[in-house]
Amino acid sequence: MFSASALISTLLLAFIVSANPIVVRDNLVHLPFAKQVNVTGIGHILKNDQSRAAALRAIGEARASGKQLQKDAVISVPAQNQAVTYVASVGVGSPATTYSLLIDTGSSNTWVGAGKSYVRTSTSTQTNDRVSVTYGSGSFSGTEFTDTVSLGNGLTISKQSIGVASTSEGFEGVDGILGIGPVDLTVDTLSPDTRSTIPTVTDNLFSQGTISANLIGISFEPTTQEVSNNGELTFGGTDSSKFTGSIAFSPITSTSPASEFWGINQSIRYGSSTTILSNTAGIVDTGTTLVLIASDAFTRYQTATGGVADRNTGLLRLTTAQFANLQSLFFTTNGNTFELTANAQAWPRSLNTAIGGNTNSVYLIVNDLGSNTGSGLDFINGFAFLERFYSVFDTANRRVGFATTPFTQATTN
Ligand SMILES: *[C@@H]1O[C@H](CO)[C@@H](O)[C@H](O)[C@H]1NC(C)=O
Ligand SMILES: *[C@@H]1O[C@H](CO)[C@@H](O)[C@H](O)[C@H]1NC(C)=O
Repeated sequence: MFSASALISTLLLAFIVSANPIVVRDNLVHLPFAKQVNVTGIGHILKNDQSRAAALRAIGEARASGKQLQKDAVISVPAQNQAVTYVASVGVGSPATTYSLLIDTGSSNTWVGAGKSYVRTSTSTQTNDRVSVTYGSGSFSGTEFTDTVSLGNGLTISKQSIGVASTSEGFEGVDGILGIGPVDLTVDTLSPDTRSTIPTVTDNLFSQGTISANLIGISFEPTTQEVSNNGELTFGGTDSSKFTGSIAFSPITSTSPASEFWGINQSIRYGSSTTILSNTAGIVDTGTTLVLIASDAFTRYQTATGGVADRNTGLLRLTTAQFANLQSLFFTTNGNTFELTANAQAWPRSLNTAIGGNTNSVYLIVNDLGSNTGSGLDFINGFAFLERFYSVFDTANRRVGFATTPFTQATTN
């Protein structure tokens, strides 16, 4: 028989479990994904990342001021192919056609048709809206449909709104995007229905009861091959087999335009005492390859590391002797500090030639955002960061979480 206090603590435990969606392990949708490095896209990584940063800032500023984005004003450099991409297989229609979609936390429209054409089935319904989105690395426009979308584990979402591209630019090698950013980023992407948001895949999994929490957990792992299947996107909760310790959360920053994305406040220190970036707002983004920091912070990082700008790759280059002295970077957000080791600051050496570098140099993954501190978007924690820390994008509680993983301290590079 239960004693009253045992019963109360059992009830309390049950309450804690159900009140904290993070620990609910059932009803999760696991979507594996693969990393691809495009060997022919030499020298493009930095330019791609910087043009994406400029586009994200312009999109965020337009949204924050309630103005429509001047689409042509966004991109100052021509669209280029993505050099590094993370793609997941997503089914659309019934029977489903499978598309390779980029996973993007910096945009929120899901669309197909860049590569493989859309195949209409009995579940496909064309809406009255046109759709158009501009990214740092490309754009697409077409028609909005609703259709059945299937994700890993055979789970389906009915009546998911998806874009079907009639034209697209900058997305060679993939079929479209799985947009898992904040839903407000879909405002102004439809016409004539410009004021509506388009519920994301995560929103619909939650509202249709398939997942019990409106959040996503993402696991990337460092890779040393051009193609590898080591990523996992979990809808509805976190996968505790992918991280160590607990998840530390930071609220979405109130600083615009970072606040329009998965934005947080963060400071960065080099070694024991060199401040690289004082506490300021920036974003966490799976669509950015590198870790980008404001130009003044990048100058401090370059001085601290002794790196020289390498013309071929666009990255900072170190000699092996300099690399041996490289200190960790410490990222502090909401009182929690995450250590990006010297090894984690190095581009994978087996991929040096894939980005136009030479075999024996060390190239650094930290680079220049292209604007000074104080812009409201002063850093981007891209893949190079996310490959070392598990990340959680919690829509319901407007916060971003990080946890260490078995790869945080790994010396794979
Ligand atoms: C790789 O990039 C080149 C141009 O940079 C492009 O022509 C090619 O289609 C891309 N390949 C893949 C598989 O993305
Ligand atoms: C982030 O930094 C800004 C500017 O210092 C500050 O106003 C804000 O309270 C901080 N925290 C959050 C959650 O935005």
